[in-house]
Amino acid sequence: MFACASILRPMGLADSGALKGRVALITGAATGIGRASALLFARAGARVALVDVREPELARTEADVRAAGGESTALAADLAQPDDCAAVVARAVRAFGRLDVVLNNAGVGTMVVGGTVESITLEHWDLAQDVNVRAIYLVSRAAVPHMRPGGGAIVNIASVSAFHGSVERPSHAYAASKGAVLALTRVMAASYGRDGIRVNAICPGTIRTRLTADIVERVERAAKEGHGIPLGRVGEPEDIARCALFLASDDASFISGAAIVADGGAMAASP
Ligand SMILES: NC(=O)c1ccc[n+]([C@@H]2O[C@H](COP(=O)([O-])OP(=O)(O)OC[C@H]3O[C@@H](n4cnc5c(N)ncnc54)[C@H](O)[C@@H]3O)[C@@H](O)[C@H]2O)c1
Repeated sequence: MFACASILRPMGLADSGALKGRVALITGAATGIGRASALLFARAGARVALVDVREPELARTEADVRAAGGESTALAADLAQPDDCAAVVARAVRAFGRLDVVLNNAGVGTMVVGGTVESITLEHWDLAQDVNVRAIYLVSRAAVPHMRPGGGAIVNIASVSAFHGSVERPSHAYAASKGAVLALTRVMAASYGRDGIRVNAICPGTIRTRLTADIVERVERAAKEGHGIPLGRVGEPEDIARCALFLASDDASFISGAAIVADGGAMAASP
């Protein structure tokens, strides 16, 4: 017999210390999915190195991790700048002495880099590629040598935009960058498996963050009325953070080169 309801409540991966003793670098940690992941990974026992270009919001994430009893360091950086990508890895290793997990999450979205090939400027096209995929190459290039001794996990945030376009909200540069993230994830998984480094991607659907501020209420309303998202709601940043924690943890020990779609069933239900 169980004595009380709390015993019956299933324990999440974070509460079982899944990342105890590990060091995780999280990019785009100031807000949204990165912030939720920072809080969750720290709760799971990781020491977290938090990277973002938005300094005040990054400082808030760092303070909140610490207030919850976690260990973190904030690394302000613009990942569109190649030197910054290498520097954040070096600073994280200097701060914590090792590196086990990289969550490549920083990104610019449709509200900034939207449009078709005809309408997007070259500057915005380049920004999408530089932040969403080139930074993954550059951060990983700096990180892998530090992870190689003991193995580790790289989790790249892609998007369902890698799989389909949108008539109403075209974002060709964003989609191209996220398709490249999936390809890079697969080839890195093939190359680094022998080093014990697993590389996986997550493809979120519509998640309630700043990136979707222009559409989230409409999508949520439609979902509640039975359209678009079978699970009847948009995603929350924590939905993706939990998926990232799973992929970063030993529970995903035989998963590499995978792309997990986390979209409430939307792609499965699309005609
Ligand atoms: N929200 C969604 O519906 C959704 C869907 C699919 C994929 N994604 C992906 O999820 C990831 C996180 O986005 P989010 O939804 O949490 O939005 P967000 O805007 O809250 O988070 C993105 C973070 O990346 C940071 N960033 C942007 N440019 C940067 C740069 N040059 N250097 C350093 N940091 C930079 C931002 O400051 C921000 O904190 C992105 O890669 C995004 O493409 C989001």
